[in-house]
Amino acid sequence: MKLWGGRFTKETNELVHNFNASLSFDQTFFEEDIEGSIAHVKMLARQNILTEEEKDTIISGLEGICEDIKNGSLTFDGEHEDIHSFVEAHLTERIGDAGKKLHTGRSRNDQVALDMKLYTRKEAKNMDALLKNLLESLLKLMKENVDTIMPGFTHLQKAQPITLAHHMGAYFEMFKRDRSRLHDLYERMNYCPLGSGALAGTTYPLDREYTASLLDFYGPTLNSMDSVSDRDYLIDFTSAMSIIMMHLSRFCEEIIIWNTNEYRFIEIDDSYSTGSSIMPQKKNPDIAELVRGKTGRVYGSLISLLTTMKGLSLAYNKDMQEDKEFVFDAIDTTKGCIVLFNGMLDTLKFNKEVMRKSAEGGFTNATDAADYLVNHGVPFRDAHGIIGQLVLTCIDKDCSLDELPLEEYKKISPVFEDDIYDAISMETCVSKRNTIGAPGPDAMEKVIGNYEDYLKN
Ligand code: ARG
Repeated sequence: MKLWGGRFTKETNELVHNFNASLSFDQTFFEEDIEGSIAHVKMLARQNILTEEEKDTIISGLEGICEDIKNGSLTFDGEHEDIHSFVEAHLTERIGDAGKKLHTGRSRNDQVALDMKLYTRKEAKNMDALLKNLLESLLKLMKENVDTIMPGFTHLQKAQPITLAHHMGAYFEMFKRDRSRLHDLYERMNYCPLGSGALAGTTYPLDREYTASLLDFYGPTLNSMDSVSDRDYLIDFTSAMSIIMMHLSRFCEEIIIWNTNEYRFIEIDDSYSTGSSIMPQKKNPDIAELVRGKTGRVYGSLISLLTTMKGLSLAYNKDMQEDKEFVFDAIDTTKGCIVLFNGMLDTLKFNKEVMRKSAEGGFTNATDAADYLVNHGVPFRDAHGIIGQLVLTCIDKDCSLDELPLEEYKKISPVFEDDIYDAISMETCVSKRNTIGAPGPDAMEKVIGNYEDYLKN
């Protein structure tokens, strides 16, 4: 049954019906659709556009439909074009003529804009909660690993010693920003489009402020044409999800590298690993690879949405129906990846000895050796050159700076004394770095305190 059959003399071609229909996917937000209708009807009654009795009949009809969908006694069939038609048809079937008044002063254009906003708002909150769980896991790892020394890298070449707490803290910052992006988009989008009609508002005396407050929006949107054709909030959300996925993907890349036989910094738990059908020895990081892989899929949703919107004249165009599957897929994918990733992280085993040994190789303390000279009055650029020469000597003798005898140091600069070894120990290298944001334990304790406060809210 069509909502718009009046001016038509022929049945819709079946292929056209199927091509045009969105019920198979917009059923996802049936609860939001009904919630929006209930608010609309309350407002209509308050404005004396519907009677109190009509309002009560419609609301109990809508609540019954919602319940029956949830308990499975009402199922979605192919006959209806979209969730809006489905609900209205079943309402009229159940309560009779009052059901036909539901759509007074409303269009599916403002209705669908509202539904998508309610849905996005809910999912942004769900995602925020998942990110918070992830941050809690990261903070726990940080607290446990303030003294766990590992190499820090630039260009994937060993650079300077850091700690595992510091490395985890970098991801804490990323996911914290991701939460604030979700918060920002929520603030920007939280205005109610309902009452904008098809594009030009309505002649009924709707109280849009009242509907907005019933649905927990900050207020009504201020331009009815924009209200029905704005999908910025979906692009904002998909963009925020793309960035979350990019962060997860970088983390996965590191996990994959750290889990190799060559690094052995970590071991992924058996319950989060997979095997090979031919090579009996294999234990593969498939979950990390899949999260990395699915990142492209979420980016795809973002690009698809941007492309869908770029040529659309004002106001509503049917192209916009294409917004749904991309966004739903991006939401499911991103939420799934955060949960899986968190599980993998919580069960990771860190080989602290291996990490520490690795930090000791590769001259990660060369900067500190140069700083030793600077502290004894040598200009930094000269110190850099001197230590560079010492590194060459070490490479020649196949030893580390810690193992190089003092006389070799003295050959290049008389400034060196026995305390050089203490100055370039891994512990010194890390513990002296206490500028804000650095890996030193004093700096790290402060940051951990800051993160604890942040997670309390
Ligand atoms: N299924 C449609 C969508 O998702 C609902 C709005 C339909 N509006 C219309 N004028 N055909 O965009």
